[in-house]
Amino acid sequence: MGYFLFLKNSLKNFNQMGAFVPSSQFLARTMLEGVHLPRAKCVVEFGGGTGAITRHILALLPSHATLIVFEMNKELAAHLKRTITDPRVFVVCDRAERIGHYLKKFGFKKADYIISSLPLAHLRGAVLAHLLSEVVASLHPHGVYIQYQYSLHSFRQVKKVFGKVVLKFELYNFPPAFVYVCHV
Ligand SMILES: C[S@@+](CC[C@H](N)C(=O)[O-])C[C@H]1O[C@@H](n2cnc3c(N)ncnc32)[C@H](O)[C@@H]1O
Repeated sequence: MGYFLFLKNSLKNFNQMGAFVPSSQFLARTMLEGVHLPRAKCVVEFGGGTGAITRHILALLPSHATLIVFEMNKELAAHLKRTITDPRVFVVCDRAERIGHYLKKFGFKKADYIISSLPLAHLRGAVLAHLLSEVVASLHPHGVYIQYQYSLHSFRQVKKVFGKVVLKFELYNFPPAFVYVCHV
């Protein structure tokens, strides 16, 4: 879904996209296995792209909950708004680092889950540190941050800011990916 649009934007700005094709359904499932949403009020997705993970989150999201999807690429954000018309979803065309501002704007204090596809390996150290501090500040004490990456490049920095990090691996994706499941 949206393969051509994804590839076109990757060729324009690979640094921001971090991949040439959307995530597989296998990776989406590995990201979300063990995610328990019945009591969730607010779930946040970083880097919606063409919605490969978004649709899987929505399948688990209770009817009373809200999903805020950050996608800074204007064309991809417009595509998400056009193709995902679910009333539980707000697509925000802005940087994920501004999560605190948008949680407040939509009436939430904290997020229950933050599910991220951001290409952390392409971020400079200070930018990554800022992003991770915003993630920690925005999560409920019982909240979970789930992040996939194609390498373990940023694993050490992520581990430093979370109490517990579980590492998983999904082979059936192009490229195969690591999944970090991070507990505050
Ligand atoms: C690897 S793609 C993943 C897309 C989709 N979630 C998937 O798994 O197929 C990463 C996405 O994050 C977006 N992105 C990168 N940095 C971002 C940031 N700081 N804030 C919001 N979106 C960002 C890119 O535009 C791109 O669409």
